[in-house]
Amino acid sequence: EQIKKGSYDHYMQKEIHEQPHSLTTTMRGRLKDGGVLLGGLKEHLKTIRRCRRLVFIGCGTSYNAALAARPFVEELTGIPVTMEVASDLLDRQGPIYREDTAVFVSQSGETADTLLALDYALENGALCVGITNTVGSTLSRNTHCGVHINAGCEIGVASTKAYTSQIVAMTMMALAVGSDQISTQARRDAIISGLTSLPSNVSDVLKLDVGMKELASSLIDSESLLVFGRGYNYATALEGALKVKEVALMHSEGMLAGEMKHGPLALVDENLPIIVIATRDACFSKQQSVIQQLLSRRGRLIVMCSKGDASAVCPSGSCRVIEVPEVADCLQPVVNIIPLQLLAYHLTVLRGFDVDQPRNLAKSVTTQ
Ligand code: AGP
Repeated sequence: EQIKKGSYDHYMQKEIHEQPHSLTTTMRGRLKDGGVLLGGLKEHLKTIRRCRRLVFIGCGTSYNAALAARPFVEELTGIPVTMEVASDLLDRQGPIYREDTAVFVSQSGETADTLLALDYALENGALCVGITNTVGSTLSRNTHCGVHINAGCEIGVASTKAYTSQIVAMTMMALAVGSDQISTQARRDAIISGLTSLPSNVSDVLKLDVGMKELASSLIDSESLLVFGRGYNYATALEGALKVKEVALMHSEGMLAGEMKHGPLALVDENLPIIVIATRDACFSKQQSVIQQLLSRRGRLIVMCSKGDASAVCPSGSCRVIEVPEVADCLQPVVNIIPLQLLAYHLTVLRGFDVDQPRNLAKSVTTQ
């Protein structure tokens, strides 16, 4: 059943539209009595709470999912999180300690760099946690404990539904690890309530499909696309750009909006399309100011904002606006990536490239 395309033209398209369901299965049976129950972590929660730091390790989209999770994992657990691209950790032979908890994120559970980094972390005595979509994979067998994301089989080389399920799985992990902290109880309750309504918010945002196809047709001849994000949505910018480059074969870069003035601003002119993510969170006013600075340099802007915020983000009316449902700030990356997945999908089809099997890429990168 899961490996048929059904009424869809491509697996990537099917997997994008499946997300209300895949997110439901990621959470099924795990949100209980106002808390989170993750059977695969239960025995190790105390050790994780005592660790010196969490080290998130992955490649590509899985790395981006961990980056999206980082702010609220730090907030809810109080434990510092460091980020490691698996190959870079190995190249540097970076420090990993017995007091660390190393969290490996991989859809396939078979990515060579991630597995070598796992061997390295095991040799150094860290507690190793696996977050994977593949039951029985090398990652799930060789880690001490973990969470299966249960997103269902993902066939398209471009990872879509696994990304959103990875973020939700890591949100639940943060809720479980932080569940002994009374001071954050109200925040945890709000996030759990946000998780419950997330599949329906994702169904809503999928209605932007036609609009994203129109946007794609206005961008098919562009040579490059920049995506600016910050805070919870820095990862959204990186992941949106990764989708565009890997399937639509268009140069695209995700950038930290806070770094704009330190170089990227020189690229801005009336031709280069720039997506700015400016949904409601603590960074909103900073993003409003970024938009003004880009507009004053005649930037060609596409702004993603919360529903009803079009005039707040672009009072002049000179930007193209993508309005998305507003959800709990830390869950907003799950909603915000979906228009960008749709954009990458339509750009690919309109540019005439192979959606499910982009040139030079494999679903699972099992060599170094
Ligand atoms: C995602 O669209 C890419 N195809 C790629 O970056 C992928 O996420 C990466 O190779 C890691 O794969 P994994 O999650 O199976 O470890």
